[in-house]
Amino acid sequence: MGVYNFDLEVNRRGTDSMKWDVADNELPMWVADMDFQTAPEIRLALAKRVEEGVFGYTDVSDDWYEAYINWWKNRHGLEISKDWLMFCTGVIPAISSIVRKLTTPNEKVIVQTPVYNIFFNSIVNNGCRVSESPLRYEHGEYSMDFEDLEEKMADPQASLMILCNPHNPVSKIWSKEDLARVGELAAKYGVTVISDEIHCDLTAPGKEYVPFAGVSDTCRDVSITCVAPTKAFSIPGIQTAAIFVPNPFLRHKVWRGINTDEVAEPNVFAAHAAVAAFNQGGPWLDELREYLFDNRRRVEEFVDAQIPQLYVVRGDATYLLWIDVSALGIPSDVLAGQIRQSTGLYLSAGTAYGACGKDFLRMNVACTRATLEDGLSRLLAFFEK
Ligand SMILES: Cc1ncc(COP(=O)(O)O)c(C=O)c1O
Repeated sequence: MGVYNFDLEVNRRGTDSMKWDVADNELPMWVADMDFQTAPEIRLALAKRVEEGVFGYTDVSDDWYEAYINWWKNRHGLEISKDWLMFCTGVIPAISSIVRKLTTPNEKVIVQTPVYNIFFNSIVNNGCRVSESPLRYEHGEYSMDFEDLEEKMADPQASLMILCNPHNPVSKIWSKEDLARVGELAAKYGVTVISDEIHCDLTAPGKEYVPFAGVSDTCRDVSITCVAPTKAFSIPGIQTAAIFVPNPFLRHKVWRGINTDEVAEPNVFAAHAAVAAFNQGGPWLDELREYLFDNRRRVEEFVDAQIPQLYVVRGDATYLLWIDVSALGIPSDVLAGQIRQSTGLYLSAGTAYGACGKDFLRMNVACTRATLEDGLSRLLAFFEK
């Protein structure tokens, strides 16, 4: 029995929650947003700000830098220098700003698909083209296709890559060897790598992710890393993130970019939430990871036993399950629509993550066990019908 109660149901209907703005009979297990209250320590820090009652313009304090530096050093074994770090209002605001600043129109930005769908918006909405390097999917497992990646990097129009580390939606923790090869190729072809590490704290208990910038001097020099406490600590609506860039030339570019785009300043809650999360949220996070990975195992076992025509891709990171529905021969956007229509269970269609996601559904299991069981019953009911 843990200290924190992840079984506590918080009714989010009618609260302007993007996730829960669905019909009464519907159960949302789509967008990457957790149903849990955040850590009590973070709630207290935010309550203190409310209590002060004056919501003025806010600076990023030394505490903020130290919180990130200590967390990455102690949790992830990476030494971050204070001068590498910048506040940003979100990982996507950071990525979009970096795409704008580091590319000229019509250049190509490489992504490894299936991948977090909003990367496509950050690329296309800023006048660039998506260069897809599909991941390999063999025997139920994903890996990078380095031959294809090299071909994409060698394209003189490719100047940037967005790496997802760990990878949403396939839940993969990339190895040091994989990341080193990405860095070598990027350096060889003059490609800058944005490493989106927003899911890095949501690994299975006992498993660690590998920070891209820490893999080698080469990776460090080509990298721009985006991190945040938002996914792991259930505070995505607070809009608080950070970017760290060891290479001084790239750092200057990124810094000018986010300032020009006005996404470099925190609101009155943003920095305080991050400080409380990293300085005090560790024990809560460790219990959360146990809970999330029990949820993950539950879905894997349930689907194996009850719906064997589906296969849950095994993964060591994120609370997002990638479910192979290829045996059904129905495109996943059609299937997701049928499941929603017939049972109210709202899953994400894999097609959103690139064409190679057409045989997959994505399920968010960052919910109470009771909600999870409801979701599984609905899924089973659909297949029994
Ligand atoms: C890989 C990845 N990057 C970024 C985001 C969103 O980040 P932010 O809310 O800080 O813009 C998400 C949200 O699901 C994500 O999965």
